[in-house]
Amino acid sequence: MLILGIETSCDETAASVVEDGRRMLSNVVSSQIDIHRKYGGVVPELASRKHLETINLVVEQALSRAGRSFRELDGIAVTYGPGLVAALLVGLATAKAVAYAFELPLIGVNHIEGHIFSNFLEHPENRFSTDKLVPPFIALVVSGGHSDLVFVEGYGKYELLGRTRDDAVGEAFDKVAKLLHLGYPGGPIIDEIAPKGNAEAIKFPLARMKDDSLDFSFSGLKTAVANFVKNHKLSIEPQSVADIAACFQRAAVEALVEKTFCAIEEKGLDKVALGGGVASNSHLRSVFKNRAEKNGIEVYYPPPALCTDNAAMISCVGYYKMEHSVPRPFESLTAEANLELESWI
Ligand code: KG4
Ligand code: ZN
Repeated sequence: MLILGIETSCDETAASVVEDGRRMLSNVVSSQIDIHRKYGGVVPELASRKHLETINLVVEQALSRAGRSFRELDGIAVTYGPGLVAALLVGLATAKAVAYAFELPLIGVNHIEGHIFSNFLEHPENRFSTDKLVPPFIALVVSGGHSDLVFVEGYGKYELLGRTRDDAVGEAFDKVAKLLHLGYPGGPIIDEIAPKGNAEAIKFPLARMKDDSLDFSFSGLKTAVANFVKNHKLSIEPQSVADIAACFQRAAVEALVEKTFCAIEEKGLDKVALGGGVASNSHLRSVFKNRAEKNGIEVYYPPPALCTDNAAMISCVGYYKMEHSVPRPFESLTAEANLELESWI
């Protein structure tokens, strides 16, 4: 079964052709980072305009790189939320046009579900082969917009166990990088400079709730970094910047790992899958790997190109939804900025 996936929820215009849910035939991503960089964040109007300019070319490339034509497709999967409405609408309009013209089923996909499913795609370069990843498992989705802890009971069966009560973890990485004048997006830059710093130099608060819940909270950690920078006026000294980056990263990752392992234990599971842009963070991956090895838990994560936004993960969800016959009616499928993760079986 061949599914064309389309993703435009934020600042990547993406299209991909995936065969039978797990075999990626093409994965085209056109990033808008250069456009938004000078504003220090995504500007919705600019994102929408750029998606409109790029989407047709990206879809054509996805098909040509896969060596397939529209007529060979079995369905169209498209992200309909959560995300920026004006951005989502471009992908939706395109997907509807193709579905209508070629009389194909149209499947609406939740972006968070996509990040979870990115783990199902083949990636032989990763020694943690994902071929054997099947539910049930715990998923941690960590990106610029989300920090969600999900119990994936089956394909399409979810229980949200925890989420952030304020900022998303990627947002915190980006804001801390901004405070340190490191550039945008900040996550990859902090990831790169943190190993040069001393992660014991400053004690920042852990990014979690003090109660027993599995929720996260990153605004206290972000404020602690802001206060530290203000009080110490250290922004010009490279070693201090590296120390702050290392201590912030450590505090953020520790909370994510701690709550995730609580969830694994609570549900009596032995598998965890990571997804979202922050899942490519090297410190996060190595802490997860070490802790998992010690506890006999298997940890899965996609290669970096499938951690950040892409359309292959959307095609993948589309495949499983088609398998379970859950295409949404054409007319009622619309952009939903705050779409929640819902089970569909
Ligand atoms: O999944 P994604 O591409 O978009 C959203 O759905 O938000 O995630 C982007 C986020 C940004 O906040 C970026 O700074 C962060 O992921 N990110 C990282 C790394 N690579 C990307 N954060 C920490 N370490 C990284 N290596
Ligand atoms: Zn995302």
